[in-house]
Formats: sequence, structure tokens, C-alpha cells
Amino acid sequence: MGKMKKGLILSLSVASSILLATGCSSSTSSSESSSKDSKLPAVGATIYKFDDNFMSYVRRAMQDEAKGKINLMLNDSQNDQAKQIEQVDTLIAKGAKSLAINLVDPKSAQTIIDKAKPKDIPVIFFNKEPDASVLKGYDKAYFVGTTSSESGVLQGEMIAKAWEANKDKWDKNHDGKIQYVLLKGEPGHPDAEARTKYAVETVKDKGIGVEELAMDTAMWDATKATEKMDAWVAKYSDKIEFVIANNDGMALGAIASLEKAGYFSGDKFMPVVGVDAIPEALEMIENGKMVGSVLNDAKNQGKATIQLATNAANGKDVLDGTEWKLDDSKAVRVPYKIITKDNLQEGKDAYQ
Ligand code: GAL
Ligand code: CA
Repeated sequence: MGKMKKGLILSLSVASSILLATGCSSSTSSSESSSKDSKLPAVGATIYKFDDNFMSYVRRAMQDEAKGKINLMLNDSQNDQAKQIEQVDTLIAKGAKSLAINLVDPKSAQTIIDKAKPKDIPVIFFNKEPDASVLKGYDKAYFVGTTSSESGVLQGEMIAKAWEANKDKWDKNHDGKIQYVLLKGEPGHPDAEARTKYAVETVKDKGIGVEELAMDTAMWDATKATEKMDAWVAKYSDKIEFVIANNDGMALGAIASLEKAGYFSGDKFMPVVGVDAIPEALEMIENGKMVGSVLNDAKNQGKATIQLATNAANGKDVLDGTEWKLDDSKAVRVPYKIITKDNLQEGKDAYQ
């Protein structure tokens, strides 16, 4: 730190005290700003937990977009809704002109609005969609995310297509049906609920029979998914014909478990699908350990969140100068896309 300070003084002869102060406080984890110029409008933001694979990419996109435009005060809510509410209090006390909130509990949107609305502070919720009725209750509340059901439908289409092409090998008990296990995200999360429902429904709609061997939540988390999968492999062994995961983190966790059980070597194979198309999953698709994923566009969701929050902080129309549109529930919805070996590059490009 001492060296760094000196370097700053030497290299920037007109270095403002702001820069130096920034250097000194950069180790605090609760307020990790990408742009700390106090002359820029202050935007307060929370991520439900930094320790979430997909959200770390959204966070990076937010920081990139914020540079030079806003003073982004970014907090790790550490998966604790009470902590997040305290963080919002602090952000408002620090003069945030708008808020970008990734809720811990999707049901807590009203609590946040109750704090922001009396002070006329706009709120951009992102990633975890609040109930439409809650957004309606405050004209300065918006959502940036996706259409949750779309990811389920696309995942189902991908499963059906892959199954049709490979069922001679994959239908191990030759009953024409897919015996699957499903790793679910956080219960009550609109993405987890919709993906679970629509992935399976879409496969059925394509005329393919399914049988659920097991389904449980692993809370979007790779380690928890490995534990679940270990238990299922022990219980069902080669009865399992497909692993459906609500996100890539859990798909990767399942693959780790399957590898321990001897899958992906010799002719022992298990089809696994996820959602997000994070770089770690793209690698698995590339080396044949994952059938595919559904791109959840972290970059554009992070970018849109900051663009709307910046406009709001500047008292402008939230869409001013952007490429986005709001639907009738005041939401910007970034589209999903199927990613398999055939279009891997599109996934890679999205995360660059
Ligand atoms: C989902 C994403 C998951 C997880 C979750 C957190 O959209 O697919 O991987 O990050 O958001 O809310
Ligand atoms: Ca079967």
C-alpha cells in the first residue's frame, strides 16, 4: 500500500486527495466501487452474494459500465436479507441518487421500496424478479433481467433434440422415456421455479416420455450439487439417464460427482445440461462433458442495470440513450439463447 501510494503521487502530480483516499480504503469488501470520483452521481448497489458464479459476471459488467459515469457503491449482501436492508439504509444515508438491487429474498422488494419511495429514490431491481404488483406500487421501480420461463423452454428444447439424436445409446432401460434427476436453484426464485417447470413440460410437449427419479434444490451451488449427485448416483446408479440443472454451477457440481463415479471415461457417459453458459460450462461443452447450456446474458444484464440506474440518478428517463425497452411490467428482459457445441463461439463472445 505504501509503495502504491508513492507511485500514485509520483505518476499523477495532480493526483487529487480523492484518489489517495480511494487507495487506502480499497480493501473494504462491503463497498467495492469501480469508480470513486465523488463528483459523479452516487448509485448504491447490492449483489445478493458475491460468492455466486453467474452473479460475479453480472458484477463485472456493472463495474465496467459504471467506470467514469457514476460513483458505484457496491455491496455484498452475503445471502442475508437483513444485512441487505441495513446496506440499503447506509447507501441512502450516503446520498445514493438511485439504487440497483439484487434481492436476497425475491419477496423483500416491498421493504426496499418502503425505504426508497419516501425519499423519491428510484430502484432498479435486477436478476431476482419482484412480484409485478410490488413494482406497480412505485412508479420509480423497475426490473432488469430475463423472461424466466424462456430459459426453461429453451433448455427443454435442447434436451429433446439431444435425446432424439442419441436415444439409442442414452435410453439405457429401453423404455422410451427419460429417467432424469433435476437439480433445482433456490426455491421461490422465479428462475428456479420456471426452469424446473418449463424444461420438463417442453420435453413432454415434444412427445417424449419422462420419469423423475429425484429432484431437490442445491441452491445454485456447485458443492451442494456434488453432494446431491453423490447421493443420487449411490441410490439410482445407472438408472439415471439425464441430469437437468437449473444453472451451470450445479451442472458443474454434478459433473464432478459423475467423474468420481467413473463417468466421462471409456463409454460411460451421462448427458448433463445447465443454464447461464458461463465460461467454465463452455469448457465442459467443448470437451464433451456437457450437452449444452442456455446463455443467460450477464454482460447485457449488468450493462442495462447500470444504464438505467445512471439515468435514474441523473433524473433522466431510465431508457434515455439506451437500446432497451420496458414491457408493461416496467421490466427490461434480455433474451436467452441455446448454446451447444454447434455455436460455442456465441457463448464465448457473450462473456468476453
Ligand atoms: C440466475 C442464474 C443462477 C444464479 C441466480 C441468482 O439467473 O441462472 O446461476 O446466479 O440467478 O439469483
Ligand atoms: Ca429410459
